[in-house]
Amino acid sequence: MIPDAGHIPVLPQAVLTYLQPQPGQHFLDATVGLGGHSELLLQTPGIRLTAIDRDAQALALAQQRLRGYDVTWWHGNYADYPGGEFDGILADLGVSSLQLDTPERGFSFRHAGPLDMRMDPQQQETAADWVNHASETELVELLSRYGEVPYARRIARQIVQKRPFHDTQALADVIWYAVPPSARYGRIHPATQVFQALRIAVNRELESLERFLQRAPDWLKPGGRLVIISFHSLEDRLVKWAFRRDERLEIVTPKPVTPNSQERQSNPRSRSAKLRAAVRR
Ligand SMILES: C[S@@+](CC[C@H](N)C(=O)[O-])C[C@H]1O[C@@H](n2cnc3c(N)ncnc32)[C@H](O)[C@@H]1O
Repeated sequence: MIPDAGHIPVLPQAVLTYLQPQPGQHFLDATVGLGGHSELLLQTPGIRLTAIDRDAQALALAQQRLRGYDVTWWHGNYADYPGGEFDGILADLGVSSLQLDTPERGFSFRHAGPLDMRMDPQQQETAADWVNHASETELVELLSRYGEVPYARRIARQIVQKRPFHDTQALADVIWYAVPPSARYGRIHPATQVFQALRIAVNRELESLERFLQRAPDWLKPGGRLVIISFHSLEDRLVKWAFRRDERLEIVTPKPVTPNSQERQSNPRSRSAKLRAAVRR
């Protein structure tokens, strides 16, 4: 069975509304993941699709899911894609449920696993390298910048004192005890933002997104559409400002599109999603 093949892509209706797939058009899914959004687009007859992911395991699963459709595959960072000419481009940022739910990938402290977090396991640097080798000051900077982590100093100090770390749960435990008791029982576990910050740093996510936002408008035909779904304020800020500054683009979502309460309930991953769309002039 394909893990999570039945998973529901985020904001499916808005993706179709803003990409407006028409028969015969060519789309780029820059973050194909498990192929949920791609499969939606491919329901329009005669659509061609190019699918990118830096995670070879995700690509293999998407290939299985989208067998029989006209899809070209590209393994790598979307920021390095050589380019093409598309009617629409989609990027659904962040981690996939496959990555989060596979303990050996080390993305989640809810499962015991190695401190890895690489979206592309061919890449050298893992989360353990950051945690075990960065200086205390570098850790504070990383946690504040990429996770907006409360108590970043206390957490960084404890990490440096208790390292080396090799697994996710040992790190989460130290973070738990590093924060004051009043911060331990909130809506989210205190390790959540720390893990987000590490993941962003390990995968250089913001640098890749910035480069992609600079390059992708050139891969669109005039009238072509660019749709980006982000999951935290750091990503959304980059998208918002890149769209505003870019003379090649006309914004078609004055405010980001967010899921309604029904979607938020049925698909918890959608809760923080924000979709922004623009059209190539
Ligand atoms: C949220 S998932 C996409 C889910 C997909 N839209 C679906 O419906 O199944 C994000 C995917 O983007 C990939 N990804 C993240 N950053 C990337 C980058 N810079 N280049 C290529 N792929 C990236 C991740 O490996 C992950 O598989």
